[in-house]
Amino acid sequence: MTRDELKKELLEKYGVSMWSEEKIKRFRKAVLDWFDASGRDHLPWRENKDPYRIWVSEIMLQQTRVITVIPYFNRFMKLFPSIPDLASAPEEALLKAWEGLGYYSRVRNIQTAAQQILTNYDGIFPNQPEEIIKLKGIGPYTAGAISSMAFNLPEPAVDGNIMRVFSRLFEIGDDIAKPATKKLFELLLRIVIDPDRPGDFNQAIMDLGTDICGPVNPRPEESPIKEFNASYQNGTISQFPFKSKAKKPVPMEIQGLVIQKGNSFLLEKRPESGLLANFWTFPMLEQDFSDFTVSEQLDFLVVEDQVELDKKQPLLKDVLYETVMNDYKVSPSTVQPNVSSVNHVFSHRKWNISIHHVTIKKDTEISDLPSTMRWVAEEDFPSYAFAVPQQKMLQAFRKVKSKEMNK
Ligand code: ADE
Repeated sequence: MTRDELKKELLEKYGVSMWSEEKIKRFRKAVLDWFDASGRDHLPWRENKDPYRIWVSEIMLQQTRVITVIPYFNRFMKLFPSIPDLASAPEEALLKAWEGLGYYSRVRNIQTAAQQILTNYDGIFPNQPEEIIKLKGIGPYTAGAISSMAFNLPEPAVDGNIMRVFSRLFEIGDDIAKPATKKLFELLLRIVIDPDRPGDFNQAIMDLGTDICGPVNPRPEESPIKEFNASYQNGTISQFPFKSKAKKPVPMEIQGLVIQKGNSFLLEKRPESGLLANFWTFPMLEQDFSDFTVSEQLDFLVVEDQVELDKKQPLLKDVLYETVMNDYKVSPSTVQPNVSSVNHVFSHRKWNISIHHVTIKKDTEISDLPSTMRWVAEEDFPSYAFAVPQQKMLQAFRKVKSKEMNK
């Protein structure tokens, strides 16, 4: 499409009228001059135009802030310096490198894509957006970011930052939570993007969008592009962007079982699909135990081999005892219900995790442990990739235990 056709579509389909060509040129210059003087040149993925580095950084930067990503990025590049290293890495090593970043399907997709590059592109990162977008885990945003930053192609990379900046510049009130709105901004950016330095242009807007034009407390009077900013000129900046509210994550009750034998703990590998797929955690049961009586919950209870179950209103400690016996085939010597609790919010789910401490006798012989369960000594925990909910449970458990010790 020609520039005139793009402008016509922007106006007719979305009701947005574009600036004059002269104004567009002035805008690009203002953006790039500011980037050269004040952009963030210390970011490690900006050191060169290696598509591999840019790709990994962009995947990490989805859902995670720059400041958090930097050390992860540097470590990842040391561990997996090239596409073949990444393609052949054991899953455990990958998850360990990603530990704490969350959204673990991202790192699994990166590895699949690295394998695609080896198989389909002779190990060389493809340099056309139509090919880049075929790689697993790469959508229009990431394809645009890599195309513009690594290959200097005038491709838009529309993320929340860019929509925020341009919705304010043009007073665009379309709901940025809707996928169709992204199309509007892609069209607009195709017209405005600097054809000579598209990667710098996109990154300049990202930098403006995280600071001067950030989501809270923007400082438009300091902006290098304030003269282009319709919402600033008209005093409407607080109305843009418009974003409809996402649905609240659905709460779920989870029982976290800290089952201890001497200095070892039972860890369980989660299923291959679903939340925290393949991660090792303390056993977690998706059950709501809130109906059970917890009046004795904080007592340190010694449960005899035979428990008296009150069938009408079972005590939580007894339910836990039974559960551990049935599900894990070991008989507890002590059960301490609800020693602590933690929450973890995913995009669609909120886990309310109750933590229960169960000990079994040190010399209990355990045979036939399935491959999804392991007794792991506490000093070996650092060699496991623990997802954030597991880290939270461990921390909360240790805190309670150290308090008990100091009593
Ligand atoms: N957010 C997403 N991509 C980015 C980049 N390349 N630089 C800074 N922030 C970003």
